[in-house]
Amino acid sequence: MAEVNLRIGTDYESNEPVYVKATGSRAIFICGKRGAGKSYTMGVIIEELFNQEQGKATIIIADPMGIYHTMSLPNVPQSDEVRDAGFLTKGFPVRLIVPGDPLVRFGDAAILAKLRENGVDVVSLQINAADLSPEAWCELFNLGINEAMGITLWRAVDSLQEANRPFTVDDILDEIEKDTRAKEASKEALENRLNVACKWGIFAQEPTTLNEVFSLNHINVLDLSVLDAGTQGLRNMVLDVVARRLFTERTRERRREEFGLATKLPRVWLAIDEAHQFVPKGRSSLCKEMLIRWVKEGRQPGLSLIVATQQPAAIDPELLSQCDVIFAHKITAWEDIYALDRLSATYMDGDLKNYIRNLNRRGEALLVDDETESVTTIRVRPRFSSHGGAEIQEKTTRKSLF
Ligand SMILES: Nc1ncnc2c1ncn2[C@@H]1O[C@H](COP(=O)(O)OP(=O)(O)OP(=O)(O)O)[C@@H](O)[C@H]1O
Ligand SMILES: [Mg+2]
Repeated sequence: MAEVNLRIGTDYESNEPVYVKATGSRAIFICGKRGAGKSYTMGVIIEELFNQEQGKATIIIADPMGIYHTMSLPNVPQSDEVRDAGFLTKGFPVRLIVPGDPLVRFGDAAILAKLRENGVDVVSLQINAADLSPEAWCELFNLGINEAMGITLWRAVDSLQEANRPFTVDDILDEIEKDTRAKEASKEALENRLNVACKWGIFAQEPTTLNEVFSLNHINVLDLSVLDAGTQGLRNMVLDVVARRLFTERTRERRREEFGLATKLPRVWLAIDEAHQFVPKGRSSLCKEMLIRWVKEGRQPGLSLIVATQQPAAIDPELLSQCDVIFAHKITAWEDIYALDRLSATYMDGDLKNYIRNLNRRGEALLVDDETESVTTIRVRPRFSSHGGAEIQEKTTRKSLF
């Protein structure tokens, strides 16, 4: 396999280029306070990956803010900075993956038209009801599996899954209707919730296959911002189903590779912005277990993870401890510094907090790399493509992005 070295920026002191090796599987953690440059740095890593791994790796960004589609456009606002650093601005091929019907999700044909005008390939992601376990269905509606409604829903999904084939939300409704052990009140309440689930437009009889959705020749942006964050873990559910299917498929494909057979799904890079929403500390989430498995067991099947968060203290420590590259931008909250400090490596000369204290400007970060056992203060290079994060902070509604 060819070496993959991501040129992330320059050494703060020597001005020499700084690389992060990404030939094998890696788990990268990006943190820093608000506006410190986390999403921007994530974009830089993705650009580097795409430049070197196009056609060879599936690159996916789980995007809860809806900011990464702008990577299809060149970084015009910072074109001077890009030129001064010795690069050219450019847009990348972006595929925007929208759970459900994009038109319904955006609620505005003009937005879709603008996205397409900007060169973004918009595709729909459909999930089959059978992709969720009985437990996941209960969790989606916040139902305990020991309470009456939870028991009824669990039983319905479990019995449908015995047939080992796809089914619809209507099938679950039918199954509940047939259940003679369930109370009428539970049935009615479940009916209401499942009818709401139908309206989400995410569940379909014919789910989209991974190969239909994810492209090796695009940056795949999974737009989770179109799902209401408050809707009982809908975003987490979508990410869980996607990660689970990728994980299973990659494990299978890996076996084919070992026998020298062609593979449809080569290695995968999954980047998750605002990761504390998905892998929270101290409480469960629909995708937490899967993502922890992804970092723990991903090395073999070639699954890499990049997570970014404002609050290291709010991320599950089990995931954090698996990360082998850290980009720490400026952090000030003591609990976050403390959470990071616990990750201090043995090869570090002093505490991480002492290094972080010296970071001042945006785009500056401390890079801790387990592979090279090095700690470097760096300046992250300017982005080739347009960064969408700034606009979202200045403008309040999504529509005004365009
Ligand atoms: N390496 C860099 N070079 C040039 N500009 C940068 C760099 N890093 C960040 N910036 C600028 O700083 C702004 C904020 O960065 P970014 O959106 O990445 O912050 P963030 O840490 O993700 O914040 P939030 O917590 O609000 O998501 C960007 O709009 C960008 O213009
Ligand atoms: Mg951000």
